[in-house]
Amino acid sequence: MPDVTLTTLQEMKRNGDKITMLTAYDATFARAACQAGVEVLLVGDSLGMVVQGNDSTLPVSVEEMAYHTACVKRGNQGALIATDLPFMSYATLEQTLANCARVMQAGAHMVKLEGGANLVPAVQRLAENGVPVCAHLGLTPQSVNLFGGYKVQGRGDAQARRLREDALALEQAGAAMLLLECVPSDLASEIARTARVPVIGIGAGAGTDGQVLVLHDMLGLSLTGRTPKFVKNFMAGQGSIQDAFAAYVKAVKDGSFPAAEHGFSA
Ligand code: KIV
Repeated sequence: MPDVTLTTLQEMKRNGDKITMLTAYDATFARAACQAGVEVLLVGDSLGMVVQGNDSTLPVSVEEMAYHTACVKRGNQGALIATDLPFMSYATLEQTLANCARVMQAGAHMVKLEGGANLVPAVQRLAENGVPVCAHLGLTPQSVNLFGGYKVQGRGDAQARRLREDALALEQAGAAMLLLECVPSDLASEIARTARVPVIGIGAGAGTDGQVLVLHDMLGLSLTGRTPKFVKNFMAGQGSIQDAFAAYVKAVKDGSFPAAEHGFSA
């Protein structure tokens, strides 16, 4: 597979080819995901939960994100690597620039920040400095304490309007990609249709330009025993992890994942 770039992803959106994204935290899984055809490897701060065993993503540090990004880079074979900036590491513009530099120099091609229109100054500055940003909207796990739990976002007229406005503001500020987590499927489809940049979904229905899942979730592994509604266990019925990755890529590409049962209503 030739190296995946932002141009590749923009072309995929234009052509209606679904984009596959999967979290990766180490070299071996990164390599296996690439070999299955995954276009974007997300070094997610979900590693705080699935790798470190915390009950939220809040304890993760920039150094830990840089370490896992470097691990993923060593296993990568042509995918685009996106890395999360962790909790409170982009509270000021100076912090944002310094911490982005750290993860980009470790091997990220793009950074992911959680938030809405409040991120506009950071997105503008990063774009001016050559850093592509994926803006993560909807259920942003770093704000779990503000939300009072992991809850669907964008329900009701006021929240839906705010999400549309945030998505537009971030795109206009220069965000290269949007990621919608746990938002009603119809709203996510509308945002993806309107946006000129690729929109990736998780718990956002089948109408986005691509899908992402957390590696451990899609392999049917859970520390808590609870499986979110939007997760499908791709390991079920497969003989190997490579087969599970291939099944995920195929299901996203042919539109069979996510099914209606994985999404949320308004
Ligand atoms: O950290 C992460 O893995 C994420 C995904 C849930 C999208 O942000």
